[in-house]
Amino acid sequence: MNNTSIQLPVRGNDTVEILTNDHDAIKTLFADLTKATAADGRKEAFERLKAALVIHNATEENLVYPALRMVAHEKLESETLYHQTAEASVLVFELDSMLKAGEDSDFGVKAAKLQDAVLAHIKEEETTAFPELQKASDSKHAAELTASIRKFRGAFQIVA
Ligand SMILES: [Fe+2]
Repeated sequence: MNNTSIQLPVRGNDTVEILTNDHDAIKTLFADLTKATAADGRKEAFERLKAALVIHNATEENLVYPALRMVAHEKLESETLYHQTAEASVLVFELDSMLKAGEDSDFGVKAAKLQDAVLAHIKEEETTAFPELQKASDSKHAAELTASIRKFRGAFQIVA
Protein backbone atom coordinates (compact mmCIF):
# COMPACT_ATOMS: atom_id res chain seq x y z
CA MET A 1 0.00 0.00 0.00
CA ASN A 2 2.89 2.38 0.56
CA ASN A 3 3.41 2.92 -3.14
CA THR A 4 -0.19 3.37 -4.27
CA SER A 5 0.16 7.15 -4.13
CA ILE A 6 2.79 7.16 -6.87
CA GLN A 7 1.05 4.85 -9.33
CA LEU A 8 0.18 7.60 -11.75
CA PRO A 9 3.22 9.62 -12.75
CA VAL A 10 2.72 12.65 -15.00
CA ARG A 11 3.69 11.69 -18.56
CA GLY A 12 3.29 14.02 -21.52
CA ASN A 13 4.04 17.51 -22.72
CA ASP A 14 0.60 19.06 -22.61
CA THR A 15 -2.74 18.64 -20.86
CA VAL A 16 -4.27 16.24 -23.36
CA GLU A 17 -1.13 14.07 -23.54
CA ILE A 18 -0.97 13.85 -19.75
CA LEU A 19 -4.66 12.99 -19.38
CA THR A 20 -4.63 10.50 -22.25
CA ASN A 21 -1.60 8.74 -20.73
CA ASP A 22 -3.51 8.62 -17.42
CA HIS A 23 -6.42 7.02 -19.29
CA ASP A 24 -4.14 4.38 -20.81
CA ALA A 25 -2.74 3.59 -17.34
CA ILE A 26 -6.28 3.29 -15.96
CA LYS A 27 -7.28 0.93 -18.79
CA THR A 28 -4.28 -1.27 -17.98
CA LEU A 29 -5.20 -1.29 -14.28
CA PHE A 30 -8.74 -2.37 -15.18
CA ALA A 31 -7.29 -5.20 -17.28
CA ASP A 32 -5.14 -6.25 -14.30
CA LEU A 33 -8.20 -6.20 -12.04
CA THR A 34 -10.35 -8.32 -14.33
CA LYS A 35 -7.47 -10.82 -14.76
CA ALA A 36 -6.89 -11.16 -11.01
CA THR A 37 -8.64 -14.23 -9.64
CA ALA A 38 -7.10 -14.86 -6.21
CA ALA A 39 -8.48 -12.64 -3.44
CA ASP A 40 -5.09 -11.08 -2.65
CA GLY A 41 -4.37 -10.23 -6.27
CA ARG A 42 -7.82 -8.75 -6.71
CA LYS A 43 -7.43 -6.59 -3.63
CA GLU A 44 -4.01 -5.31 -4.69
CA ALA A 45 -5.17 -4.61 -8.26
CA PHE A 46 -8.21 -2.77 -6.92
CA GLU A 47 -6.11 -0.65 -4.54
CA ARG A 48 -3.85 0.40 -7.42
CA LEU A 49 -6.81 1.20 -9.66
CA LYS A 50 -8.53 3.12 -6.87
CA ALA A 51 -5.43 5.24 -6.25
CA ALA A 52 -5.06 6.01 -9.96
CA LEU A 53 -8.74 6.98 -10.27
CA VAL A 54 -8.54 9.24 -7.20
CA ILE A 55 -5.51 11.08 -8.57
CA HIS A 56 -6.78 11.32 -12.13
CA ASN A 57 -10.33 12.33 -11.21
CA ALA A 58 -9.07 14.95 -8.75
CA THR A 59 -6.94 16.43 -11.54
CA GLU A 60 -9.91 16.66 -13.86
CA GLU A 61 -12.44 17.82 -11.27
CA ASN A 62 -10.22 20.57 -9.88
CA LEU A 63 -8.65 21.86 -13.08
CA VAL A 64 -9.87 20.37 -16.34
CA TYR A 65 -13.66 20.53 -15.93
CA PRO A 66 -13.46 24.11 -14.59
CA ALA A 67 -11.36 25.03 -17.64
CA LEU A 68 -13.87 23.31 -19.89
CA ARG A 69 -16.58 25.48 -18.39
CA MET A 70 -14.73 28.80 -18.06
CA VAL A 71 -12.41 28.70 -21.08
CA ALA A 72 -14.40 26.59 -23.53
CA HIS A 73 -17.81 27.71 -22.17
CA GLU A 74 -19.00 24.10 -22.15
CA LYS A 75 -21.07 24.24 -18.97
CA LEU A 76 -23.30 21.28 -19.75
CA GLU A 77 -20.43 19.06 -20.88
CA SER A 78 -18.50 19.99 -17.74
CA GLU A 79 -21.48 19.11 -15.51
CA THR A 80 -21.99 15.81 -17.31
CA LEU A 81 -18.38 14.81 -16.69
CA TYR A 82 -18.58 15.76 -12.99
CA HIS A 83 -21.71 13.65 -12.70
CA GLN A 84 -20.06 10.67 -14.38
CA THR A 85 -17.04 10.71 -12.07
CA ALA A 86 -19.32 11.05 -9.03
CA GLU A 87 -21.29 7.98 -10.14
CA ALA A 88 -18.04 6.06 -10.69
CA SER A 89 -16.87 7.05 -7.19
CA VAL A 90 -20.02 5.49 -5.72
CA LEU A 91 -19.26 2.22 -7.54
CA VAL A 92 -15.65 2.34 -6.28
CA PHE A 93 -16.96 2.85 -2.75
CA GLU A 94 -19.32 -0.12 -3.11
CA LEU A 95 -16.53 -2.35 -4.42
CA ASP A 96 -14.25 -1.22 -1.62
CA SER A 97 -16.95 -2.02 0.95
CA MET A 98 -17.45 -5.48 -0.57
CA LEU A 99 -13.76 -6.32 -0.29
CA LYS A 100 -13.55 -5.03 3.27
CA ALA A 101 -16.60 -7.07 4.30
CA GLY A 102 -15.34 -10.17 2.49
CA GLU A 103 -18.64 -10.30 0.61
CA ASP A 104 -17.31 -10.22 -2.89
CA SER A 105 -19.51 -12.68 -4.80
CA ASP A 106 -20.87 -9.76 -6.88
CA PHE A 107 -17.49 -8.08 -7.17
CA GLY A 108 -16.84 -9.16 -10.75
CA VAL A 109 -20.23 -7.94 -12.00
CA LYS A 110 -19.90 -4.59 -10.27
CA ALA A 111 -16.27 -4.18 -11.35
CA ALA A 112 -17.37 -4.77 -14.95
CA LYS A 113 -20.05 -2.10 -14.51
CA LEU A 114 -17.43 0.33 -13.22
CA GLN A 115 -15.12 -0.52 -16.11
CA ASP A 116 -17.88 0.11 -18.67
CA ALA A 117 -18.77 3.43 -17.03
CA VAL A 118 -15.16 4.63 -16.83
CA LEU A 119 -14.37 3.58 -20.40
CA ALA A 120 -17.45 5.44 -21.70
CA HIS A 121 -16.40 8.49 -19.68
CA ILE A 122 -12.86 8.33 -21.07
CA LYS A 123 -14.21 8.05 -24.61
CA GLU A 124 -16.43 11.09 -24.12
CA GLU A 125 -13.49 13.10 -22.81
CA GLU A 126 -11.12 12.08 -25.58
CA THR A 127 -13.59 12.51 -28.44
CA THR A 128 -15.60 15.52 -27.24
CA ALA A 129 -14.37 17.40 -24.17
CA PHE A 130 -10.62 17.48 -24.80
CA PRO A 131 -10.93 18.60 -28.45
CA GLU A 132 -13.35 21.36 -27.35
CA LEU A 133 -10.91 22.51 -24.69
CA GLN A 134 -8.00 22.46 -27.12
CA LYS A 135 -9.95 24.41 -29.70
CA ALA A 136 -10.95 27.09 -27.20
CA SER A 137 -7.57 27.48 -25.48
CA ASP A 138 -4.98 29.95 -26.73
CA SER A 139 -1.34 29.10 -26.07
CA LYS A 140 -1.34 31.04 -22.77
CA HIS A 141 -4.39 29.21 -21.39
CA ALA A 142 -3.02 25.89 -22.55
CA ALA A 143 0.39 26.45 -20.94
CA GLU A 144 -1.20 27.66 -17.69
CA LEU A 145 -3.43 24.60 -17.45
CA THR A 146 -0.56 22.19 -18.08
CA ALA A 147 1.56 23.97 -15.45
CA SER A 148 -1.33 23.81 -12.97
CA ILE A 149 -1.75 20.08 -13.60
CA ARG A 150 1.96 19.44 -13.02
CA LYS A 151 1.85 21.42 -9.78
CA PHE A 152 -1.35 19.72 -8.60
CA ARG A 153 0.04 16.27 -9.33
CA GLY A 154 3.28 17.12 -7.56
CA ALA A 155 1.30 17.27 -4.33
CA PHE A 156 0.32 13.61 -4.79
CA GLN A 157 3.83 12.42 -5.63
CA ILE A 158 5.34 13.44 -2.28
CA VAL A 159 2.95 11.32 -0.21
CA ALA A 160 4.45 7.87 0.20
FE1 LIG B 1 -10.32 11.43 -17.59
